[in-house]
Amino acid sequence: MKKNKTVYVCQECGASFPTWSGKCSACGSWNTLVEEKINKKKKEFFSPPKEYSKPKPITSIKKANSLGRISTGIDTLDEALGGGIVKGQVILLSGEPGIGKSTLLLQVSSNISKKGKVLYITGEESAQQVYIRGERIGALSENLLIFSETNLENILSVIEEENPDFLVLDSVQTIYSSEIESAAGSVSQVREVSGKITEIAKSRGISTIVVGQVTKEGSIAGPKVLEHIVDTVANFEGERGHAYRVLKIIKNRFGAAGEIAVFSMKDVGLEEVKNPSSFFLSERPVGQPGSVIFPYTEGSKPVLVEVQALVSKTVYAVPQRKTQGIDINRLAIITAILEKYGNIFLKDRDIFANIVGGMQIREPALDLPLALAIVSSFRDKPIEKNIAAFGEIGLTGEIRSVHYTEHRIKEAKKFGFDKIIVPANIDLNDKSLVKVKNIQEALEVIK
Ligand SMILES: Nc1ncnc2c1ncn2[C@@H]1O[C@H](COP(=O)(O)OP(=O)(O)OP(=O)(O)O)[C@@H](O)[C@H]1O
Ligand SMILES: [Mg+2]
Repeated sequence: MKKNKTVYVCQECGASFPTWSGKCSACGSWNTLVEEKINKKKKEFFSPPKEYSKPKPITSIKKANSLGRISTGIDTLDEALGGGIVKGQVILLSGEPGIGKSTLLLQVSSNISKKGKVLYITGEESAQQVYIRGERIGALSENLLIFSETNLENILSVIEEENPDFLVLDSVQTIYSSEIESAAGSVSQVREVSGKITEIAKSRGISTIVVGQVTKEGSIAGPKVLEHIVDTVANFEGERGHAYRVLKIIKNRFGAAGEIAVFSMKDVGLEEVKNPSSFFLSERPVGQPGSVIFPYTEGSKPVLVEVQALVSKTVYAVPQRKTQGIDINRLAIITAILEKYGNIFLKDRDIFANIVGGMQIREPALDLPLALAIVSSFRDKPIEKNIAAFGEIGLTGEIRSVHYTEHRIKEAKKFGFDKIIVPANIDLNDKSLVKVKNIQEALEVIK
């Protein structure tokens, strides 16, 4: 009799256990273990593959003339990916529901279909729905094949039959393998589906983009498990009420991580924003307290963003601390540093902080502009309009240096910011720089 094995898989981290418990002992999450039945065909003990290549010295390996990159037809996206998509590369595109993943991928598919065959697998929407979107954004093309299917085995046979140059799988959570009994979207299914898709993409040199759903709470399983399997992880961010969308490269085996591409959502689809700094600064309120310009970058492309803070007297017993696009724990630390080293008393104040435009910034260089925005709002005193700032603040109030200083300074100067507050130990001499050692010195500059 065939015996089904039952395991309890953590939907957060993918660890599996023979018995259920309330807490995952691998990642510490509560209530994340879900029963999954594994019904895989037993593998033979050892069956060597029929053909395999021999190990060889690294020096004897010839570099291919080019990695065979294909263009997505969107310049900023190609740049962010390090020059287009490599043959056989598997990219995971994750993002919250409704952010525009399918729209972007349909645009890219249509662009690539001008030069090669594209297979777009939709497990989430019917072919009719994809057609309607395609018609709206002008993405109808003979070479763009739409396949509405959720069964992995069927999908793999179609990929083999069609042998496309570019493949889209939208989304990995909706596809299921009949070899595994658990529901589509569970960690075992996601692992199986992404593993099989990656295998076929690599063996046939098919450039592939896989969509991974995440919710606001990050409760749907998959993306974390997936991140290890795929070559590149791209995150699509933005506020749904806003038109801005930022694609961030989190991991890339074929280029630098930290690169970004900025888009604007229009009714005809996503339009690339070639000059994001001027785009983000376009609605900047000059002469208002609580606003500071921050040259942000995690890769080669810096972008000027506006950091806003609102400090007001609280009416609650516990003052409110709310952020958008900023880590709330970082705000707590900056507030404590301002109290202790800056003599800025915020205990009875509500503090709201925001990155204008819906960008999510987790960079330490944001500390200094955030502190300055808070103090500016607290003092009700606007910061001079030609000031920009960046730098990490340490727990003793010291301003620490950060990456990519030259890139940031260059971008700030390009947009007329000629008083840039920077960490003191930057090894550059420029009359636009105001070097500060600690938070007290920084607060003096905006007095
Ligand atoms: N007619 C329209 N005009 C303008 N924008 C539209 C129109 N229809 C949809 N959109 C935009 O497209 C977004 C949905 O895009 P899309 O379906 O590509 O998102 P998604 O990330 O794939 O979502 P899901 O996770 O649900 O699959 C909407 O939130 C909206 O902003
Ligand atoms: Mg979609």
